[in-house]
Amino acid sequence: MFKQNSFYKIILIALVLLVAVNFPGFSQSSLIQNIYGRTHTSLNGRWNYIIDPYEMGYYDYRHMPFDQSASGKGGFYDDRKPKDKGEWVEYNFDLSPAMKIPGDWNSQAEKLQLYEGTIWLRQKFNADPKADKKYFLYFGAVNYEAHVYLNGKKLGTHKGGFTPFQFEVTGKLLKGENFVVVKADNKRFQDEIPTVNTDWWNYGGITRDVLLAEMPASYIEDYKVQLAKGNMNKMEGFVQLAGADKVQSIIINIPEAGIKQTVTTDATGRASFDFAIKKLNYWSPENPKLYAVEIAAASDKVTDKIGFRTIETKGQDILLNGKSIFLRGICMHDENPLIPGRLRGEGDMRMMLQWAKEMNCNYVRLAHYPHSETMVRLADEMGLLVWAEVPVYWTISWLNEATYQNAEKQLSDLMTRDKNRSSVIVWSIGNETPISEPRNIFMGKLAATARLLDNTRLVAAALEIHRKGNDVVVEDPLGEKLDLVSFNEYAGWYWSSTKDMLNYKFDIKFNKPVVITEFGADALGGYHADEETRWSEEYQDLLFKNQFTMLTAIPGLRGMTPWILVDFRSPRRQHPYFQDFWNRKGLISETGKKKKAFYTVKSFYDEMQLKYK
Ligand code: GCU
Repeated sequence: MFKQNSFYKIILIALVLLVAVNFPGFSQSSLIQNIYGRTHTSLNGRWNYIIDPYEMGYYDYRHMPFDQSASGKGGFYDDRKPKDKGEWVEYNFDLSPAMKIPGDWNSQAEKLQLYEGTIWLRQKFNADPKADKKYFLYFGAVNYEAHVYLNGKKLGTHKGGFTPFQFEVTGKLLKGENFVVVKADNKRFQDEIPTVNTDWWNYGGITRDVLLAEMPASYIEDYKVQLAKGNMNKMEGFVQLAGADKVQSIIINIPEAGIKQTVTTDATGRASFDFAIKKLNYWSPENPKLYAVEIAAASDKVTDKIGFRTIETKGQDILLNGKSIFLRGICMHDENPLIPGRLRGEGDMRMMLQWAKEMNCNYVRLAHYPHSETMVRLADEMGLLVWAEVPVYWTISWLNEATYQNAEKQLSDLMTRDKNRSSVIVWSIGNETPISEPRNIFMGKLAATARLLDNTRLVAAALEIHRKGNDVVVEDPLGEKLDLVSFNEYAGWYWSSTKDMLNYKFDIKFNKPVVITEFGADALGGYHADEETRWSEEYQDLLFKNQFTMLTAIPGLRGMTPWILVDFRSPRRQHPYFQDFWNRKGLISETGKKKKAFYTVKSFYDEMQLKYK
């Protein structure tokens, strides 16, 4: 028994996505769900690159874009060999250096460590396109703005440094050798998301996988198969077809659970469904059970690995599968401390999540932007709950409509990509955004969009706090719109001291679960002194002990993610001895050495695990 979802809900979702996808500057096709589960070839490898700080490959001497001029001659995107030896060209990819993709450029060449600007990257590849197939060029992420060209012709552009995008290239692939050129530009601007000021390294370039996907002419573009909100006996979701044959019979098959349902897509290619199910082996950090889920149309079939669980709040409790839990978490950036740069593949990511497991975490805050799909799939497999976040960080241009559309597009792309991941329990719409009426409106709209796109997960953000005497007051109006009371507090580091911090109490104005999003202190790994000496491991360790004393006095405390798993690079951290462009709040140093506080957090989490048995 299943029922077509209400017309209203489908229209509303279509409207939100229509606005998001058609925003100028985003001319890519709708994201294919589970791209790694489709027929694809990888374009990863060594790409030649040209550093172009004045964008010579994009603008002519009158500052007109080559790719909008009739001849198009001169743009670096056209890598065809000069017609004759004498042709005047001032670039040559074949003779240019190469870098590893996926990989930020900052960590691959000394002179690019602080580079902010344009770099052109080119890859050559062979293709053998079939007449009855469709082809898509997929990028896991390019930071920050990408202009993409195939065989000298522009495919489109994308803004946003951490979300996937793709272009349909059916009919544009040559049999034999092709070349793709990306103009990647990581310059920062006030009106972007994030804005000019962040406490993380501005790693530029093609930082995640590049794939060429081959799909049937009519294919399964998107799907959601999850438990209904708060109902462990009801499955719900949708299937969306693309291509000419929109009306098809679709089989949703979960063999190990004895579930097999048939739905029929409508003229738009969509079928929403819900159906009763008997008991499942529910996903949890202690039991990260993933089921093989097969979705089959006559023309296409895709298999995914999906865990099933419910997440909701009730008063000050967070209920996972109906049971109250405590989120034993840690924050992490998308950065490998041992090998400079962004995490490049599964090995890097597994190392980070394994460190979190060693600390006895059941939860990670993937700050402050969407991490890779591989990272979230690993969290599914390894049993770690996830707080996912968009980089609406600090002083955003709240009054700029294009800025809002950008934020909404990054949020909807994150949610589209990860909606089937059982590990993801929180969509976070931002971090430490200063309170103002324009900000409240902007964030209120973002929270509403998150709920419209997915009513099964929690919506949150790191709220603002202020101090009044010995009270830490949490009354940020945005808190009314969110499911959790989450905030960053740096008692003992940025204010107060390890001695006086114990005088503070928390005055929280919301009757909701409290999940502290950040607290901590810098410590240079291996620097030892007494507990009153800042930057020492002993100072950091005492601060964590006092934080646990302070925070466990909060009646509604249901979780925390101390800042941060490992030291990370930041252009805002200039102390020549203690920092040297590193933020040292890691519980693990950049050499992989665990600091004293790591073990203090672990023993606290061992206690909390027993308490919530
Ligand atoms: C802030 C911010 C982090 C930053 C941290 C710090 O709360 O959210 O991105 O790195 O504090 O100051 O170390």
